Amino acid sequence: MYRYRVERMNMWISRHLVVIWLYLHFSEASPRYSNGFFYQDAMNGNGNGEIHFSGVRLHVESPRSTVAAVQGSNATLPCHYRYEPEIHTPRRTRVKWFRLSSTDGSLEEDVMVAIGTRHRSYGGFRGRVRLRREAPGDASLVISPLTVDDTGLYRCEVIDGLEDESVTVGLEFRGVVFPYYSSRGRYQMNFHEAKQVCEEQGATLATFDQLFAAWEEGLDWCNAGWLADGTAQYPVSTPREACGGAHLAPGLRSYGLRHQHLDHFDAFCFTASLKGTVYFLEQPRRVNFTEAAQACRDAGSEMAKVGQLYAGWRFQGLDRCDAGWLADGSVRYPISRPRANCGPEEAGVRTFGYPPRQQKHGVYCYMPHW
Ligand SMILES: *[C@@H]1O[C@H](CO)[C@@H](O)[C@H](O)[C@H]1NC(C)=O
Ligand SMILES: *[C@@H]1O[C@H](CO)[C@@H](O)[C@H](O)[C@H]1NC(C)=O
Repeated sequence: MYRYRVERMNMWISRHLVVIWLYLHFSEASPRYSNGFFYQDAMNGNGNGEIHFSGVRLHVESPRSTVAAVQGSNATLPCHYRYEPEIHTPRRTRVKWFRLSSTDGSLEEDVMVAIGTRHRSYGGFRGRVRLRREAPGDASLVISPLTVDDTGLYRCEVIDGLEDESVTVGLEFRGVVFPYYSSRGRYQMNFHEAKQVCEEQGATLATFDQLFAAWEEGLDWCNAGWLADGTAQYPVSTPREACGGAHLAPGLRSYGLRHQHLDHFDAFCFTASLKGTVYFLEQPRRVNFTEAAQACRDAGSEMAKVGQLYAGWRFQGLDRCDAGWLADGSVRYPISRPRANCGPEEAGVRTFGYPPRQQKHGVYCYMPHW
């Protein structure tokens, strides 16, 4: 930030040295630099070389501090700038997008720079980013397609002469939280095992915020699971005696921080939306677990993981009233439109646990899109 300001200051000074000199000698008012917000604008932008001075304030704003996107699709990070008072003459405004690559924001990675209609993108963003420019002052960044590494905090900086103003916008992937228990049974996993099973399902241990968002969307689950912060909690929408008490308000019930080796719970996993497709494999007959794995391979796919089935249900509207094998040996089916004979009245992924592997069922496969 400081670096850029000094660089531009030097350029500005050499270009306008004479003007500054004139200004200092012939203006009664002292130059007003109020922490970079106000500036005295000399010979800038009106195109006919007329010298005039005016205090103009640049505003840079974003209506959203976080954007949630679907991995593999595209995302627009909103950023708008305007002048106060309004300026009608065109200006050479420079827009610069960075990504802050450390939590304290001290490291910046260039994403793109745009001046007028020209723009340039950098590194892994090359060819994938552009400014939306739907209206004057629209400096929103469009990223298309989104890759796995694109989440994080972005900064939109608008530079006009000595002025610069910026706003930050976070990008995260939309995802779904799902409860997971071990094939050994309920409450069998310590923290490290819980972390590992989530990873095996193409997911991560959910954070408190992710579980909270899932609870807001209606997740109700009466078994405590590990979260990424080492606490064990569970979400209750409909308070009842068996789930911490009927008298308590709906919310997350917490067991607090637990011992990471000695305490055992289930897990809450989080998976981001996916680019590939999860589908029920059409077959003439039902199959055991080994045949199911082979059938997916024969179809050029792989057996779906639990996280993939949840993502397909949540983001691709997967709806199928047929129980099918998944890669972890569990049998489940996804219902988006609840109906008779397809489980409870709420949408959700129905789970039959881990039946003996010689049992015959359908199978859900996953086809990645490259
Ligand atoms: C963004 O994605 C939508 C739908 O996925 C598509 O219609 C649109 O053209 C995409 N926009 C860009 C800029 O790629
Ligand atoms: C599934 O069936 C095949 C025969 O079609 C058999 O060879 C295999 O052992 C069975 N697998 C299991 C897990 O029962």
